[in-house]
Amino acid sequence: MCGICAGFGNGNQIMNVIRGLKELEYRGYDSCGLAFINSKKNDNLEIVKCVGGINSLEEKVKENFSSEIVIGHTRWATHGKVCEENAHPQLSFDGNYAIVHNGIVENFEELKNSIDVPFLSQTDTEVFVSLIAKENGSTFEKLRKACQKVVGAYSLALLENKSKKIYLAKKGSPLWVAVNENEVMAGSDISVFSNKFKNAFCLNDGEFAEISLKNVIFFDKNGKKIEKKCIPIENDGFSYDYSSSDSFMLKEIKEQPLAIRKTYLNLCVSQNNFDIKNFKKFKSFHFIACGTAYHSCLMACRFLQKFCNKPCEASVASEFRYAENVLSKNCLYVFVSQSGETADTIASAKLVKDAGLSIMCVTNVPYCTLNSLADFVLPTFAGKEIAVASTKAYTAQIFSLLIFALKLAGLNINSILKNFSLNFDCEFDVEKFCELVLQSDKVFFMGRGQDCITSLEGALKLKEIAYLNCLGIPAGELKHGTLALIDENSLVIAISTQEKTKKKIESNILEVQARGGKIVLISNIEHNINVAQKISLPCFEEFLMPIVSIVPLQLLAFSVCQKLGFNPDKPRNLAKSVTVE
Ligand code: G6P
Repeated sequence: MCGICAGFGNGNQIMNVIRGLKELEYRGYDSCGLAFINSKKNDNLEIVKCVGGINSLEEKVKENFSSEIVIGHTRWATHGKVCEENAHPQLSFDGNYAIVHNGIVENFEELKNSIDVPFLSQTDTEVFVSLIAKENGSTFEKLRKACQKVVGAYSLALLENKSKKIYLAKKGSPLWVAVNENEVMAGSDISVFSNKFKNAFCLNDGEFAEISLKNVIFFDKNGKKIEKKCIPIENDGFSYDYSSSDSFMLKEIKEQPLAIRKTYLNLCVSQNNFDIKNFKKFKSFHFIACGTAYHSCLMACRFLQKFCNKPCEASVASEFRYAENVLSKNCLYVFVSQSGETADTIASAKLVKDAGLSIMCVTNVPYCTLNSLADFVLPTFAGKEIAVASTKAYTAQIFSLLIFALKLAGLNINSILKNFSLNFDCEFDVEKFCELVLQSDKVFFMGRGQDCITSLEGALKLKEIAYLNCLGIPAGELKHGTLALIDENSLVIAISTQEKTKKKIESNILEVQARGGKIVLISNIEHNINVAQKISLPCFEEFLMPIVSIVPLQLLAFSVCQKLGFNPDKPRNLAKSVTVE
């Protein structure tokens, strides 16, 4: 689960590739590296690698190296622990080839046993590159033959000692390439292309490319040259200033009002191509996603049931793809993903497509794999989300799906949505809240209905970036086990935004307090109850409250993370986009 980038052109490409890799860090950041042709040293193939993020790599190469032909990688470990030996680029046993690879070679053990050469790392990628080196023929033929033997997914860039070419191959994982009058760049997504490129080519599964100075030639799986159409790319809003020392997570939490406004303007005001008539025929909806996006799916089910009276279901993609699903053509399958690159979500979408059924994708990145499979795309307008833990993409997903449900129901409540988009803000003081969490041994989140979903998402945020072992539960489930854990060292965060369940959540609060547990209550409702702290939410229509009530929980996770001295943007053992199973 990684990002790859390559640069070939006049001038030093090393910093170009480093800049591209910074854009790809969302795909993993435990180690990274470069391979390049050093023209000052007889066109020798050289490698620089390090454990840590791209900034460490930048420090290592700064002004020390120059090359016009460079491939680079940022890694999220799958095979083998995090160390320099396992970082990419990986070298072939004979030292002739360097490869950067995103994907997994599923039959790597079998391939490893079939080639009798020494291995220095524990990676499947080293097997891949040594397999290439073992094949016969030109470099391209060697690569093509090796790819035929590999079971699994890959997007890769290959560099040969003393050569003036970079080869690309793609199956499963995404790969883009762009050309201008001075240089050629390739990468795992279009964010690697700076404003210098206006168009890009998207490689399809089984295709190859050969990059030389200012030129790219494409080949199909049989090695036959093919022509490909390029796609115009817009870089606006998809490139960030990485020099800023502020945390992206806090910035993105605070950008939520803007994301909501943009969503309102794009989906409710602008004339867009999204024709709601296409969806009237569907009798039910099945939402599928991973992580935070799965919580948006749970919320979407509530909206469609409430406003459209349609049966709905939500599934975690890693479960859906192996379940005994009873698929129906009367059901619309909706895949929700910030990145549009999450492996389990993509596999689930392919499964439904292969059954000949319609799919809609709700994504935040316009040129993503999920969108390329979709019959319908409902975009979210959160702008680029860099911090690994999703915040503004989540609330934008909920708002987009809410608008979708309202439109499908034929309800015109634009004035309410407009009022919300103008008045929603993200200012909450969570200082005391944070202290209460830090003083507690156990932290629970509870709510009912939509507040239960917010509880799940609040707990996920705290786990993701502050590494606290916490749990989100439906408040009604408290007495089915969790109460046994409550004592004077426990903190329970109760969310209450619905009149219908006001009395019920009050009873749950009393049950916690009776066992010595402390309560932080997050609510816009008048509750006559004493708690350790109340965070008052502004009042909007009930169905809009999930967008509001999650904000103090996002801020809480951020503050606890900072107080504990962790990096909120790059939590351990997590990646922004989980591109492997
Ligand atoms: C990872 C990320 C989460 C994200 C999830 C799904 O776990 O760290 O922030 O919610 O993947 O990602 P997606 O891009 O499909 O929404």
